[in-house]
Amino acid sequence: MASPIDDGVVLVTGASSGIGAAIARQLAPRARVLVLVARRVDRLRALAAELQAGRPSLQVDVRPCDLSDRTALRALAEAVLADHDRVDVLINNAGLGDIGLFEDADPDRLAFMIDVNVVAPTLLTRLLLPAMRDAGRGAVLNVSSGFGLTWMPLFAAYAGTKHYLTALTDALRAELAGTGVVVTQLCPGPVATEFEAVAGNPTGQQVPAFLELDPDRVARAGIAAVDAGRAEVIPGLLPWLAIKAGQWSPRWLLRLLYGAMGPMLRRRLSGCARRPPVADGGGPEERGGR
Ligand SMILES: NC(=O)c1ccc[n+]([C@@H]2O[C@H](COP(=O)([O-])OP(=O)(O)OC[C@H]3O[C@@H](n4cnc5c(N)ncnc54)[C@H](OP(=O)(O)O)[C@@H]3O)[C@@H](O)[C@H]2O)c1
Repeated sequence: MASPIDDGVVLVTGASSGIGAAIARQLAPRARVLVLVARRVDRLRALAAELQAGRPSLQVDVRPCDLSDRTALRALAEAVLADHDRVDVLINNAGLGDIGLFEDADPDRLAFMIDVNVVAPTLLTRLLLPAMRDAGRGAVLNVSSGFGLTWMPLFAAYAGTKHYLTALTDALRAELAGTGVVVTQLCPGPVATEFEAVAGNPTGQQVPAFLELDPDRVARAGIAAVDAGRAEVIPGLLPWLAIKAGQWSPRWLLRLLYGAMGPMLRRRLSGCARRPPVADGGGPEERGGR
């Protein structure tokens, strides 16, 4: 069966940077309509112009939206359905992290992260799925994380959001078996994007270069998994090994290892700079929204 990407209406959240922008670029030669969603409208417009210059028959629909705003999110889904009848492929990619001791995290920022990483993909999928199911054709790609499959100290709430997305993906995939709608999750390890600048990293420790992947490669793996109707993909052999080692280790062993690390992390992080407050949108100044 043909992939729903081909000649389809594809909506990508978080298309203004990183993995989402890479996915949009790779889908531009295949989709009929690309709906680009994020807060930074200038970036979305620049990407739309680039994609349309490369393929004039492509329709690019720029939809600025702060996905933490439920009213705006509902309005987005309604407007997209009104204009395009249905979305064939939904790519729930927008997200942010928060690195550090949980007790030091800004509570508003934690709530914002849960809104973007958990509530937004849940509601967007709920609002766009019925039309896919009725058409008997469609795909949802949820960009989870290696932290959807395992966990580590300093990523407590972020890993919690991605565990949610992983469980949602697997359960929804089972519910939709045989309907023509496929649900897939992309679970990358570290990727060279704006993610860390937004998440903050009070440890100051850099991810080893050999573990960090290029967003284009991660996007390619996600798209190939949708085309193949796969349940899950972890791009790159080394990240796959590292994530699977965590996922398949007995939980008691991880608790033992990470528990031993706790006091050391606490000593190291006392007095470290905190993550950017949510009032900045959790990142570069030009971002709108909260
Ligand atoms: N990079 C990694 O190491 C890594 C690893 C595993 C999983 N992931 C996941 O990959 C996904 C993409 O992240 P990335 O690495 O590409 O990071 P990124 O470069 O920071 O991109 C994040 C995207 O999410 C959008 N976004 C954030 N908050 C939003 C909001 N309130 N409303 C609408 N859009 C919002 C951002 O757009 P605006 O700021 O313009 O709104 C941006 O386009 C995330 O779900 C992340 O958890 C990343």
